[in-house]
Amino acid sequence: MILMDKIVIVGGNRLKGSVQISGSKNAVLPIMAGTLLADGRYHIQNVPMLRDVKTMSRLLQSMGTDVALYEHVLQIETKNCSIFEAPYDLVKTMRASIYVLGPLIGRFGYGKVSLPGGCAWGPRPVNFHIEGLQKLGAHIEIEGGYIVAKAKRLKGARIMLPQPSVGATGNLLLAAVLSKGSTLIENAAQEPEIASLSDFLNKMGAHIGGIGTSSLEIEGVDTLNPTDMSVIPDRIEAGTFLIAAHLTGGDVKVEEINARHLTALLKHLRKSGASIEVVNHAVRIQSDGQIKPVNVTTDVYPGFPTDMQAQWMVLMSLAKGSSVITEKIFFDRFTHVSELQRLGADITLDHNKAVVWGVDHLCGAPVMSTDLRASASLILAGLVAAGRTDISRVYHIDRGYEHIEEKLKPLGAEIWRDQEPLII
Ligand code: UD1
Repeated sequence: MILMDKIVIVGGNRLKGSVQISGSKNAVLPIMAGTLLADGRYHIQNVPMLRDVKTMSRLLQSMGTDVALYEHVLQIETKNCSIFEAPYDLVKTMRASIYVLGPLIGRFGYGKVSLPGGCAWGPRPVNFHIEGLQKLGAHIEIEGGYIVAKAKRLKGARIMLPQPSVGATGNLLLAAVLSKGSTLIENAAQEPEIASLSDFLNKMGAHIGGIGTSSLEIEGVDTLNPTDMSVIPDRIEAGTFLIAAHLTGGDVKVEEINARHLTALLKHLRKSGASIEVVNHAVRIQSDGQIKPVNVTTDVYPGFPTDMQAQWMVLMSLAKGSSVITEKIFFDRFTHVSELQRLGADITLDHNKAVVWGVDHLCGAPVMSTDLRASASLILAGLVAAGRTDISRVYHIDRGYEHIEEKLKPLGAEIWRDQEPLII
């Protein structure tokens, strides 16, 4: 019998205390791919101990690099990297594997990376990555489900992204830093994770200007050098704990964060009735559990993050009144809706808009995780639902939250991990 982890929560406890936020998943993954750009030893600190980090480690190992992850520190030695391929088996479990394409083509002139395919909430194309690399001079073909990219040496170019895609901006940066001449990426993503990747590459000797803006200028260099780096805090994990505190009428200090990365969320939390105090690298949230309805529209940074949309929906499910949540980044990202409805939420979906009618209470039930942020929303709902909620398939949550139940327990949540048979 195959057993799978599940998370069990008995809801109703008020959260109180402090919680330390881990390093950002979305920041560390492109940095790990960036280590392919120069031979040598890298020392990366504040690394979250997550399934996606382990998957990226396995991918780098499959290419011949040495990777060791121990107590939030990654040691990577890249001198033996000799296989320039990312196989389907790994890419299908983590789309961010596509980040190795940029460094492979930029440094070795060859990269073969499986196309990631769709994900739980619909198609997620990589055409901006491919078209941008072609602008830099890469010859790209799709063969047997793989992107095969070849080039002698990439040449700087002007690239206008149709949308400020995080992944495409990161991949093109990773490719352009070793190209000949200058590259301009316009309509680039401004997310903190892209700024942190740019900082890492500049520490390696790259010349990237315009960091944090929508226009990134890259002056290509011939070689780069290994460097050390500390991963920025995970703004989505932080935001999830802030919502947990507000939902439960709690008083929680969320520590080791950069509050500037959370501006849009903090503004919305204040509007919804929470009291927020920013102190150095922490945010204290206090709530009396009275939640006001507040509409949100997801947007690129510095707008409201799509990665917080599912969690916000739980908060609005218990608001005094109705609100509208509009998803502008991934139109179909609503797989959590039907699971939240099983817990008693009143939500109507119309294309990329969800109308959420606040209810008095949610009721515990067995539910199933469908993707990473949907799982986070189910945990939040379980924390306030009356009775017991069993959340199956929590391997999704382990992709992006480090021991979430271990962080919630000291705050007063009644939550534990259990196992159940896998039924296919
Ligand atoms: C990254 C994050 C993810 C977050 C998302 C948006 C990582 C590992 N993942 O995903 O958590 O939800 O940013 O903030 O950092 N698009 C195309 N073609 C492309 C690329 C993107 O059409 O080649 C579209 C997408 O379908 C989407 C939009 O552009 O509608 C933004 O996607 P993108 O920013 O690329 O998301 P990811 O990098 O995949």
